Amino acid sequence: MPSIHYSLSLVASAFALGVLADDTAEFDWSGIQPTKNLVYHPCYGTFQCARLEVPLDWHNASDPRTVSIAIRTLPAVVRHDDPTFGGSILTNPGGPGGSGIQFAEDFALPLQRIVDRPGRKHYEIVSFDPRGIGYTTPAADCFHDPVARSAWMLEYRGIGGLTGVGHGHLSESAMGYTLAMNDMFARHCRQSEAKYGEILSFVNTPSVARDMVEIIDRIDQLHNPTTKNTTQQDLASTAVDEAVINGDGKVPRLQYIGFSYGTALGNYFASMFPGRVGRIVVDGVTDADDYANGDPGWLGNTIDDDEILERFWKGCFQAGASICPLANDTNISSASRRFWSWVKSLDEQPRSLEGPTGDTVVLTGDDVRRSVGDIFDNPIPGFRDIANTLHRAMAGNETDLFRLAVGRNPLPLFHNGTSSQLQPVDLSSIDQQYSILCGDGKDVTGKPVSYWMRYAEKQKAMSKLLGSYWVTSRLLCSSWPVRARWLFNGPFKSPKADSRLLPGIPAAPLLFMSTELDPVTPLRAARKMAKGHPGARVVTQEGMGHCALQSSPSNCTRSILAEYFDTGKVPDRDTFCKADCGPWDLNCHVQQGLGIPEID
Ligand SMILES: *[C@@H]1O[C@H](CO)[C@@H](O)[C@H](O)[C@H]1NC(C)=O
Ligand SMILES: *[C@@H]1O[C@H](CO)[C@@H](O)[C@H](O)[C@H]1NC(C)=O
Ligand SMILES: *[C@@H]1O[C@H](CO)[C@@H](O)[C@H](O)[C@H]1NC(C)=O
Ligand SMILES: *[C@@H]1O[C@H](CO)[C@@H](O)[C@H](O)[C@H]1NC(C)=O
Ligand SMILES: *[C@@H]1O[C@H](CO)[C@@H](O)[C@H](O)[C@H]1NC(C)=O
Ligand SMILES: *[C@@H]1O[C@H](CO)[C@@H](O)[C@H](O)[C@H]1NC(C)=O
Ligand SMILES: *[C@@H]1O[C@H](CO)[C@@H](O)[C@H](O)[C@H]1NC(C)=O
Repeated sequence: MPSIHYSLSLVASAFALGVLADDTAEFDWSGIQPTKNLVYHPCYGTFQCARLEVPLDWHNASDPRTVSIAIRTLPAVVRHDDPTFGGSILTNPGGPGGSGIQFAEDFALPLQRIVDRPGRKHYEIVSFDPRGIGYTTPAADCFHDPVARSAWMLEYRGIGGLTGVGHGHLSESAMGYTLAMNDMFARHCRQSEAKYGEILSFVNTPSVARDMVEIIDRIDQLHNPTTKNTTQQDLASTAVDEAVINGDGKVPRLQYIGFSYGTALGNYFASMFPGRVGRIVVDGVTDADDYANGDPGWLGNTIDDDEILERFWKGCFQAGASICPLANDTNISSASRRFWSWVKSLDEQPRSLEGPTGDTVVLTGDDVRRSVGDIFDNPIPGFRDIANTLHRAMAGNETDLFRLAVGRNPLPLFHNGTSSQLQPVDLSSIDQQYSILCGDGKDVTGKPVSYWMRYAEKQKAMSKLLGSYWVTSRLLCSSWPVRARWLFNGPFKSPKADSRLLPGIPAAPLLFMSTELDPVTPLRAARKMAKGHPGARVVTQEGMGHCALQSSPSNCTRSILAEYFDTGKVPDRDTFCKADCGPWDLNCHVQQGLGIPEID
């Protein structure tokens, strides 16, 4: 299976964890009959899977259409009636468009090990594919045809990014062509909606937040069969708060951890359904206000990137040439100059390359900027890897040049050594990502090239390295064909928490986490978002990378997390956590994600 970044990063990696390939045997989801109540089936080894049926349109009780949400649960190590059972923790890996089902493969067990307190609290970890995504049906899919999709992707790639090929500065013709490509994309979406039925206008975040209420209610019902069934009339937020009353008069409450875009989902949830908040942790925090209301927004995301690049060079020279071969240069400024002049030469004259199995590809300066930027998500082990790759690539090693060109995005058409084949379409295709992010955001259709050029200039001013690339995150909405049926524009705030489980009031304050320098969700966004939730605290973890838990190991961060899920207590004040080790330390490893030492 390809990486989850396959089609996402062709356009922009947006806000997602680097969830990697799911190597496990496939599970046949179509063998599960979707049900209104939660019915689990064994799956993926020790997991339990279900398909939960919910209304397509939460606001129209007479609309019979439904969505079946794929749910993958790692059971707790104790039974649910054990006094140490801590309940369910729902997760979201980001994206938008990231697959919770894939995420669970690598992350559920490490996460459970972090939050469990042996003999005291044991949780089940519940992942799901949000509406439109992955194994949840119907899928948001504008192509229904891998050849058409691959053709679109290859033509898009051929533009060479917004700098265009042969330029190295923002190009109006590249922008114009990109807008036309987006329009073409929108045509595919319209055709698909007409032929296969509507889905694109029903997959954005408010509906997903509402689905999460349903998931926790149905989990509660599974454990406690006297729980009332919800009806489609229970829709307004207060009604949702009161909808499901247990014997003890308490409503089920969400325990949740969301990464990256998943922090926006957590913020939407807390703001829309504050009475349903049990514990909410958000790590790698999106500015939800900018995300929902920005015009076009998404301008502050890359503000730390050039500083991260600076620190990359500093760390490299401190580590020395035996660890970071790029340090085999007189000083930082000459190494950095050498890098940029090499990128410029590729901007002016892209190179054709051949991969190990005979694939061919063109490498542009844009590919290098993007590959280096991608690495910022995971400095461990990314910094050392990219230093070696760049060193060899600048010396002309074709294998490494090829690797930079392809990056985390395998080519949609690839050569397997014998013949060319189509890559299977990844679970989180751009349709799924964009139906959510264009659906949540302001309508930016119908804007001229000049509007987007001004925007691109501003983005470039934010970051020399990634600014022009980051433009594409919002740009693909330039012809987005539908408006979402359910919008939530904020305010992103909740009332002061109270542990007595009062109606309409969160049971605990929100816990925000961030690294010091995050390439797409800067710390400043965490501080800004925390202000909307009284009592919320920001835990800042030493170092760089996207999301604290996944970028470096830190016992400090992990123990705050476990304490919070257990007791609902956040630190007394905003807190700084040291990382246990850093990107240039030889023995520093992270489990794929979640900053826990690698389990051999
Ligand atoms: C609600 O759904 C019914 C049945 O599909 C449809 O006829 C009606 O137009 C819908 N109402 C709204 C407001 O969308
Ligand atoms: C909820 O609905 C299901 C059918 O979907 C039914 O079997 C169950 O008895 C209902 N529960 C209650 C408490 O009404
Ligand atoms: C550093 O550069 C020198 C001279 O160019 C070369 O002889 C040496 O092998 C290089 N070392 C590394 C680690 O690349
Ligand atoms: C860095 O090295 C170059 C020669 O490679 C030299 O010209 C320049 O002055 C040095 N810069 C600093 C800040 O030492
Ligand atoms: C090029 O780099 C690869 C590692 O990516 C290495 O295996 C190979 O030996 C290098 N080729 C040359 C000619 O140095
Ligand atoms: C490559 O693809 C061809 C055609 O689908 C197939 O016959 C061949 O076995 C594949 N080779 C490898 C190494 O997978
Ligand atoms: C983190 O915790 C582990 C196990 O609890 C321990 O072995 C390790 O030394 C700790 N690291 C630091 C830096 O405190």
